[in-house]
Amino acid sequence: MQLNSVIVASSNIAVSEINFEALPRDATIIRCGNFYDEELYSLGAEVDYCTISEQSEALIKRLAQVAYSGAYTIKNYLYAGDTNNKMSQMLRRQPAFKGAVDCLSALSEHPQIARFFMSGTKPALPLQMLAWALIHGCDRAYLIAPEIYGEARHFPFVEPTYTQQSNQPHVEQRDQTAKSIDHAFIAMLMRAFPKAHIFDGTTRRPANMPFGAAPQIPSHDRLAPMPKVISAAGRRGIDEPQTKSPYYAHRLNAVTGKDERCAYVTFCDSEAYLFGARVLANGLAKHSQIPLIVMTPSDFKVSGSKFQSPYVRILPVPRIRSPHVPEKHQARFENTYTKLNVFGLDFLDKAIFLDSDIAILRNIEDLFDIDGFAAAPDHGLRLMADDFNSGVFVCQPSSNLYLKLLENVSHVQSYDGGDQGFLNEMFPDRVLLPHHFNVLKRVEKSLPALFDEDKIAALHFVGEKPWSVTTATDWSHLDRLWFEMLGPDESIDFILWLKSQYARQPVPKPPKPQPPIPVAKRAPSAEELLDMGKYQEALKAVAPILKENPRSVRHLRLARDAYLGKRQYIRALKKHLRLRKVQRQRYQSN
Ligand code: GLC
Ligand code: MN
Repeated sequence: MQLNSVIVASSNIAVSEINFEALPRDATIIRCGNFYDEELYSLGAEVDYCTISEQSEALIKRLAQVAYSGAYTIKNYLYAGDTNNKMSQMLRRQPAFKGAVDCLSALSEHPQIARFFMSGTKPALPLQMLAWALIHGCDRAYLIAPEIYGEARHFPFVEPTYTQQSNQPHVEQRDQTAKSIDHAFIAMLMRAFPKAHIFDGTTRRPANMPFGAAPQIPSHDRLAPMPKVISAAGRRGIDEPQTKSPYYAHRLNAVTGKDERCAYVTFCDSEAYLFGARVLANGLAKHSQIPLIVMTPSDFKVSGSKFQSPYVRILPVPRIRSPHVPEKHQARFENTYTKLNVFGLDFLDKAIFLDSDIAILRNIEDLFDIDGFAAAPDHGLRLMADDFNSGVFVCQPSSNLYLKLLENVSHVQSYDGGDQGFLNEMFPDRVLLPHHFNVLKRVEKSLPALFDEDKIAALHFVGEKPWSVTTATDWSHLDRLWFEMLGPDESIDFILWLKSQYARQPVPKPPKPQPPIPVAKRAPSAEELLDMGKYQEALKAVAPILKENPRSVRHLRLARDAYLGKRQYIRALKKHLRLRKVQRQRYQSN
């Protein structure tokens, strides 16, 4: 066996950590640990050799399962354990691997390495594999094992799925002793194999290592990550051979004549926006056969079979949260930074990014001819500024650019708290596209002269969406355009979804019967008091009025009646008392 270029990579590496600009396409790939949990095929779906720490039964079972499922083509299993180890034996017998190679024997036959191994703690697994590759003639080794650099690894805005699943740090940090053993081991290997070049294959460019960064290579020779396909069954696997990617189409650039890998890309993180993505897909499919990649955060599960358009590909991506929301900006912009993942899809030469609230009315393929970053003017928040709207843009994905953007997320301001403010800062030298490539719906009312239906190529439903139920301004004439673009099955799905949304709304409670409004208590008038037989009080009520106005006939009469009434009352009372007295005397005398 003779190896030349070799990439040795540990598990759980973020795409942004891999220096793709330097990795040769034809290298032999050795993967360590649970690499199959990665978001993309970071280093392709073909694994020449894989190895795991044979301590965990769960890991071994998962690896066997992954190999069996066909999600990766694993050519060989490298075992570095004791040959009598039961688990090791089980793995070696896996029919899914085309071969199993005893790695430990080769290592123990090499005098310097054997001596090193006898001294106690073993170096990190990727370093053991590196040694094995060097023994087999490898002359260029690219090491992607950030855990040996001893820096804390953290990604404040990129959350790979595996960190969400387990709350543990995604790569174990090797302790100080182990790290010094790693360093000594590398230094020993460099002495033992002086002709071999060992490079750092990460984007970290560590200063404390005896080897340096790898030189950049031309893009057509470079390795690029492959998207992972989610099949209709929801299982990750490869649907088509790697050579013909379903994720892009080749297109000749009309300006430069170059053959370029092109795709439309959109982002969507909710059921509602998925309907937007369907309309987007149908509009594109009318004019173009280039695939539409629908990026979804990896914790939002979508099955790929729901689209009428045959060109749709679902691609899970890590979430990137806006650091500026929600303190002062729109909360719904919190996740729009996830759009930045389009810059990391460097298996593409060109991407046209389109928001999933856009309807495509004309062919926009010409946009692929543009080099660099381009977007259309924004008629939104800051009318006088020459901002662009980030709902439509053309870009050239590259891992360097992606990394540069991610590094700036935390400290570059965003005037709207979303990706648009950020991208306007990051691309001051953009090409401004003609306005009809991104016509904001509101322009119809605010700048009617710019709203020419015969020219609009992309209609952007900013603000209220056609699927949202609101009582805000009526846009039904534009919404109608959008509805017409759903396929027949998609329309039914939409109605069913709307029904389920409606059913989920809490049933409004009947309003509580309002207690009768208490009438302000008013003192009864003199007349009323008189009617009630309250002569004394009636007299009291009328007295102040008469004092003010002694000639008021009405009040004089009232006073007289009250007085008479009072007199009658007293008379009646006296009569009554007399009667009772007489009665009592009679009773006593009986
Ligand atoms: C605007 C843009 C949209 C962007 C958002 C957040 O609504 O139209 O594309 O995602 O701002 O910046
Ligand atoms: Mn939008």
